[in-house]
Amino acid sequence: DDAKPEIYKGLAGVPVDYTAISKVNPETNSLLYRGYPVQELAANCTFEEVAYLLWYGELPDPEQLGAFEDRERSLRGLDHDVKKVIDALPIDAHPMDVVRTAVSFIGAADPATPDESPEANLDKAIRLFAKLPSIVAYEQRRRNGLHYVEPREDLGYSANFLWQAFGELPELPVVSAFDVSMILYAEHSFNASTFTARVITSTLADLYSAVTGAIGALKGPLHGGANEAVMHIFDEVGSAEHVGAWLDEALGAKRKIMGFGHRVYKHGDSRVPTMHAALVSLVEYYDRPDLLELYTALADEFTARKGIHPNLDYPSGPAYHLMGFDTEIFTPLFVAARVTGWTAHILEQAAANALIRPLSVYNGEDQRAVPVRETA
Ligand code: SDX
Repeated sequence: DDAKPEIYKGLAGVPVDYTAISKVNPETNSLLYRGYPVQELAANCTFEEVAYLLWYGELPDPEQLGAFEDRERSLRGLDHDVKKVIDALPIDAHPMDVVRTAVSFIGAADPATPDESPEANLDKAIRLFAKLPSIVAYEQRRRNGLHYVEPREDLGYSANFLWQAFGELPELPVVSAFDVSMILYAEHSFNASTFTARVITSTLADLYSAVTGAIGALKGPLHGGANEAVMHIFDEVGSAEHVGAWLDEALGAKRKIMGFGHRVYKHGDSRVPTMHAALVSLVEYYDRPDLLELYTALADEFTARKGIHPNLDYPSGPAYHLMGFDTEIFTPLFVAARVTGWTAHILEQAAANALIRPLSVYNGEDQRAVPVRETA
């Protein structure tokens, strides 16, 4: 009898490679980007500084930051052809499909796509980082019948993103909360979409192919799609006083409650306290205590019943809702942030590559002969 090899379903608990980009520590409930605690980065740095850190391994000095910001600001615009491709898509296409298609198109149109040198790949990464806000804002407006708003080079990343999405200059509390969400979403080790990007990179395919695949992986509600799904749950529940009855029914039907649970963290997500504080500031700014009541009631009741804690998507969903984003735009916002982590991992994978190709254990039919059919 053959000994049955052990299967690690979902690769749960399996270390597959080293990374120097981030460290997720469920024991201490902490997350480090290049050694820095993410909540300290969120409190003291801009998203641009954090993006620089993820790619270059160190925080920029003022001169490096200035040059990096100039570069990012100069690359924000969208070519006419990208807009044409987006416009060719159905108005009710899911924005994740639109963003995936736009990134794929940019890759097909970029003459540098086959250049796999680290310099060329970093250049492509910064290009996508700079252009994703334009793409996501374009889609936020297109689906609402509104015209494109050109980027403004006098604004930082987050202020410009909100400007392009809403055509109004955002106020400081909103810019700060948005910037914090981008920093928290930027990177999280070998999550499903990052691993997808690394698998694609391991075949020596180009960076745009890896990012396009990662966007596909992020769309699902067990991963990035959860922030959108959280808002649908809030709509279903309606208000704080309905939480108990709604949970009875949802848990009775064995539904997964989106925005709760995590493969690695079992005692809470390290990023939630920081995003929770950002959400509270938005609730005050927009004067929506009712939303915070619903948010708190559902989290408290679900965690009390199941011992499962909220993940980052739980506070970020309602935060993006308050800012005015359509629910279907929440996961594309996650794309705009995570493109930094994805591309840092693509560079790391390429620098020490091994084709990712695990084994499977066959459990189908035993070998058998193809029946020979009589010819007529
Ligand atoms: C992200 O990995 C990353 O880093 C991802 C991410 C990142 O930054 O990249 O952090 C971003 O993707 C956050 C996760 C977003 N997903 C959701 O919010 C979807 C809802 N959550 C789950 O379905 C679930 O918790 C997962 C998918 C996130 C993790 O699931 P696992 O590790 O595969 O665990 P499991 O589904 O096997 O759950 C274990 C038990 C089960 O119960 P039993 O069968 O043992 O009785 O916990 C229960 C599950 O049913 N459970 C839930 C639940 N999460 C776990 N039950 C109800 N609702 C939930 N949300």
